[in-house]
Amino acid sequence: MFAAWGLRPEVEVHQLPGEPRALLWQRALGRGLWVSPTTEPPAGLKGQLLAHHLIGPAPDLLALVPWPSRWALTLPDRPAITHPLPLRRGPGGFPFTTLALTPAELAAWRLCNGSRKLGEVLQRSGLGLDALLSLLLRLTDVSAQVVQLRPGPARANEPALDRLVCPPRPAFAREAHHHGEGGETTLKHFHEHIHDAPTHFDEGETTFAHAFERPHPALGERPFGAALIDALVGLGADRPGLDVLEIGPGSGAVCEAALSHLIERGLTPACYTRLDLSPALLHAQAQRCPTTRSLQGSAEAIPLPDASIDLVLSNEVLADLTAAATPGGFDVTALDGQVWFNVGAFRLVQELARVLRPGGLAYLSEFGGPDELPTETTQLDHPEVSINFSQVAEVAQAAGLTAEIVPLGALLGVNLDARWLSRASFEGLRCLSREYKILLAARAYTPQTLWLPEPVEGVRFVSLREDGPAPVITRLWALILKKPS
Ligand SMILES: C[S@@+](CC[C@H](N)C(=O)[O-])C[C@H]1O[C@@H](n2cnc3c(N)ncnc32)[C@H](O)[C@@H]1O
Repeated sequence: MFAAWGLRPEVEVHQLPGEPRALLWQRALGRGLWVSPTTEPPAGLKGQLLAHHLIGPAPDLLALVPWPSRWALTLPDRPAITHPLPLRRGPGGFPFTTLALTPAELAAWRLCNGSRKLGEVLQRSGLGLDALLSLLLRLTDVSAQVVQLRPGPARANEPALDRLVCPPRPAFAREAHHHGEGGETTLKHFHEHIHDAPTHFDEGETTFAHAFERPHPALGERPFGAALIDALVGLGADRPGLDVLEIGPGSGAVCEAALSHLIERGLTPACYTRLDLSPALLHAQAQRCPTTRSLQGSAEAIPLPDASIDLVLSNEVLADLTAAATPGGFDVTALDGQVWFNVGAFRLVQELARVLRPGGLAYLSEFGGPDELPTETTQLDHPEVSINFSQVAEVAQAAGLTAEIVPLGALLGVNLDARWLSRASFEGLRCLSREYKILLAARAYTPQTLWLPEPVEGVRFVSLREDGPAPVITRLWALILKKPS
């Protein structure tokens, strides 16, 4: 297929199922390119092929610099490297494997710091040339991508150290009960059949609130639920004796922290009701928050009387509600090319206009944004659709509420410079934890809160702007609704 391209003889051509492009991989150097086969590569692509040493003269190997992948974790006591298998990416992420090393290979691998040339690694490691090259062949293999050999040193914060050459993440399969007859999302069956809270939120869908259920520096050493209450008290929920409704409380983490913080602040509610579709989650919530009331039902038709609630909390629930191809009778300003409408969220805010007392306040958060084209996520095992907050606000205003859209990070005063475990390190440690017969829960670990049963090198903590164990806060927005007194 690439006969006319003049590829170097050691370049491998990988063709992956469902991937129209081919991966050209320079095995010795651990570098490659995805390309669409054409008879002759265009000039720009020729330059890239040359830069990746896929065509052209052989580079001087010992002058190259081994760049270590940030996805690799070193286990010095075994010794071994844990790394992902990039080409076997699945809908839930990468599988990982552990590659055993000899002590001498471990020493050589530790010398690969992104700035030393291979010649220096050879000299300092004491590993012979053949043994070093054999190690590098394993580490630069396309199935591992632990090392890339580059012509110069890596820059500070080099993004290529995070990158894996891999096929696009395949979409999770959808089941018949995920959509109704008109194609709308219908997650009632999905939620009614959730097994248990830890499996659901640690392995299936980790929310920001779940990852921050313990006090964290990013939230001024408060858990998420307490930071949320402080924000809502600042917006007027500052009286004791309120009737509180939490919609979709999940594992009960927000409920637990919110309620105890309300009590600490002398704002004990008259009644704290939890509304959820899932019997298993309602049970888990009741165990964590025994003084609160369980109510099974849907956010789209709230089983409560008119004017019975003062404060509503609903964190990362809106995307679970019905999304449909038309606004379904709601008068909203459609965007060009809009294929999903957050009809369930429209119904919810209409319901809130009914159940809130005059002077009542509601907080609704989700991923999306004021101008978001609602889009179905494919990385979850059920179809969630991101929220266009402007349209939900339009419906709320039409129903007589005031509506304000705010970035969730700003509402909670989140310190984006605080650090949490990087996504890559979390995924690697999660796989290792299965070997220890424990599951590393999905939490916003800091160097102080991460405990590991054996030494692991290469664990990275990054700012909250970068990917961690939960969705990045910059993707989350909040809608604050008030019912005029
Ligand atoms: C993504 S979880 C969010 C959990 C929690 N609020 C948090 O932030 O961690 C969605 C929650 O909403 C519930 N839920 C989904 N659809 C619902 C609906 N139509 N009515 C009531 N609860 C619903 C789910 O069972 C689950 O508890």
